[in-house]
Amino acid sequence: MTFLRLTDLPVAGKRVFIRADLNVPQDDAGNITEDTRIHASLPGIEYALKGGAAVMVTSHLGRPTEGKLAPEDSLAPVAKRLGDMLHRPVPLVQNWVDGGFAVKPGEVVMLENCRVNKGEKKNDEALAHKMAALCDVYVNDAFGTAHRAEATTHGLARFAPVACAGPLMAAELDALGKALRNPARPLVAIVAGAKVSTKLTILKSLAAKVDHLIVGGGIANTFLAAAGLPIGRSLAELELVGEARAIMDMMKARGAEVPLPVDVVTANDHSVLARANRVAATEVRPDDKILDIGPRTAAALAEVILKAGTIVWNGPLGAFEYDQFAGGTRTIAQAIADSKAFSVAGGGDTLAAIAKFGVTDRISYISTGGGAFLEFIEGRTLPAVAVLEERGRKQD
Ligand code: 3PG
Repeated sequence: MTFLRLTDLPVAGKRVFIRADLNVPQDDAGNITEDTRIHASLPGIEYALKGGAAVMVTSHLGRPTEGKLAPEDSLAPVAKRLGDMLHRPVPLVQNWVDGGFAVKPGEVVMLENCRVNKGEKKNDEALAHKMAALCDVYVNDAFGTAHRAEATTHGLARFAPVACAGPLMAAELDALGKALRNPARPLVAIVAGAKVSTKLTILKSLAAKVDHLIVGGGIANTFLAAAGLPIGRSLAELELVGEARAIMDMMKARGAEVPLPVDVVTANDHSVLARANRVAATEVRPDDKILDIGPRTAAALAEVILKAGTIVWNGPLGAFEYDQFAGGTRTIAQAIADSKAFSVAGGGDTLAAIAKFGVTDRISYISTGGGAFLEFIEGRTLPAVAVLEERGRKQD
């Protein structure tokens, strides 16, 4: 990829504007419940600070109404947490678009929630020009928001004197590019979750390039139905059975495969007290709900994973939040951890599963992107990346 990288640029004395994705979950009292994205943004901020830049960092938080800042939309808790991590205060600047605030070389400020600015979401050019005037170097380190063409992710990249990728953005693109653009084979993708419809284009795009497409969750149920197997009352989208069949045919024609479960874990109910039964995939009764893959299936899939050269994982294979339906996802997570393959994983539920099964350190790369990760594996152009590449080409 042909974009400039922050870590290749001298920044001493420069005004550096970093668009990060610090959109972290909070509880009802506003406490941050998970701060991976703040941690992941530290290298870019620290590089600019150590290099002697005057550093401004902004992010969106949630989806606020433009033009008014509700207390729950404020980045104040994020600025505090970032300050704790950097061991220095990070002042929060309000109403910053027209400048008028002070930040000296070697200092960092946080600019309040950029989605509160009028015109942010529509990528307003006048807003982007004003923000571009605040900086000498614009850094996009917000991979999690790279699928949005907004004023801080796109317009600003067009108009800033210099536009580059921060280290997190670069690491994400390097890792996901390695997994999907020039993968070591066999390439195994695991796509699971509730609905085929939300991941249909991803499944189709992967079906054209992967060697094994492992499906799980409600998606697997739709594929089982497409193969003529009974699925009882399981979550599935029967109107998409034709699409599922087409994906299986497409894979078969390429000499690749969609390995379907040979056994499953069923119950009457999706609940913590539900009694789990292991049955052959041919023996699911009309009253049953499939809530996990069975152990024989999990062991067979683990074999496939252990032989992989590259693994891309999105979505748990069963209702892993309840222990009696967690076996399939646990076995797969363990196999990915044990595999020598280059592995990438992303998506909220997937990260929760990785944390639950304690394999975080044994996945080669865990993406900070949700929607952006999915759009990348779908093969779509991420507008915030495209504009950095455009600027990078002009530089050549
Ligand atoms: C995310 O949490 O996936 C990113 O921060 C993007 O947020 P958005 O969907 O509100 O644009």
